[in-house]
Amino acid sequence: MIILSHFQAAELLQARSTERSTTSISLDLGLTVTEVTLTPDRLILPEAVITWLEIEEIAQHETACFLVEDNRVKQIRGFSEFTGRAYGLMPTASAPTMLISGLPMHRIKNTNPYQDTLAKIKAIAPLHGRVLDTCTGLGYTAIEAAKTAERVVTIELDPTAQEMARFNPWSRSLFDNPKIEQIIGDAFDEIQNFEDSTFSSIIHDPPMLSLAGDLYSGDFYVECCRVLRRGGKLFHYIGDPDSKSGARTTKGVVRRLQEAGFTRVVLQPQAFGVVAFK
Ligand SMILES: C[S@@+](CC[C@H](N)C(=O)[O-])C[C@H]1O[C@@H](n2cnc3c(N)ncnc32)[C@H](O)[C@@H]1O
Repeated sequence: MIILSHFQAAELLQARSTERSTTSISLDLGLTVTEVTLTPDRLILPEAVITWLEIEEIAQHETACFLVEDNRVKQIRGFSEFTGRAYGLMPTASAPTMLISGLPMHRIKNTNPYQDTLAKIKAIAPLHGRVLDTCTGLGYTAIEAAKTAERVVTIELDPTAQEMARFNPWSRSLFDNPKIEQIIGDAFDEIQNFEDSTFSSIIHDPPMLSLAGDLYSGDFYVECCRVLRRGGKLFHYIGDPDSKSGARTTKGVVRRLQEAGFTRVVLQPQAFGVVAFK
């Protein structure tokens, strides 16, 4: 699968301007580099040929990624009948983020989705045993958790989000790693199917409160506490603790986690969240 963004388009246009006949670019959003051939009117990729007009079109879109298939360039986007929301992949200089209704699902200001993921994992490390990842998204937290955990169960509400992950080279091991089990469903309902004390850690990385209120509710936190084993930890991403809404949400989350039975809740401002201990 060949995926391009404005970063590669800009490099290609630059190479064309210097009249080079070959150049090396990434066809998987920065993970690897491949040599491609430049002709006056076309770009020759492994198993595909596209026009400069198409490259110029890609260069104009800073918030979209493109699939090259059957010698055609198609913007990667989806519309979920289920949630009524539009989905897309937004490139960054590192891993892409997913846009839901235009909102990025990872931090991109002064950081990138990969560093954002590492900060979340570091806040709850070490991860061993069985881990529950409540909101799959592009699978970055599940993939990172699976590097040390025995098993990761990850839940995604919307099949369209999973579709976006399938196009994303950075999400590949979500589908390839046998340690990761994917469930399509509502985390609020799905969590009720697990036995008490099933998991040693939970990574809870929901969309913002206004998009997923249930996942910030006391009832959900009670279930999180129930499925965690004694001594287990939950990382809860909340949002910028220095913003007005982030500070207000954090206060409510901490109170409800304590009411749900977590014995200690520690602020993790560098990861824009909190860690709660059972
Ligand atoms: C912030 S993103 C998660 C990012 C993810 N941790 C990653 O590493 O890419 C939130 C995801 O939760 C999904 N979601 C929203 N409501 C949900 C629910 N009730 N149950 C499970 N997933 C949900 C959204 O579709 C979105 O993909």
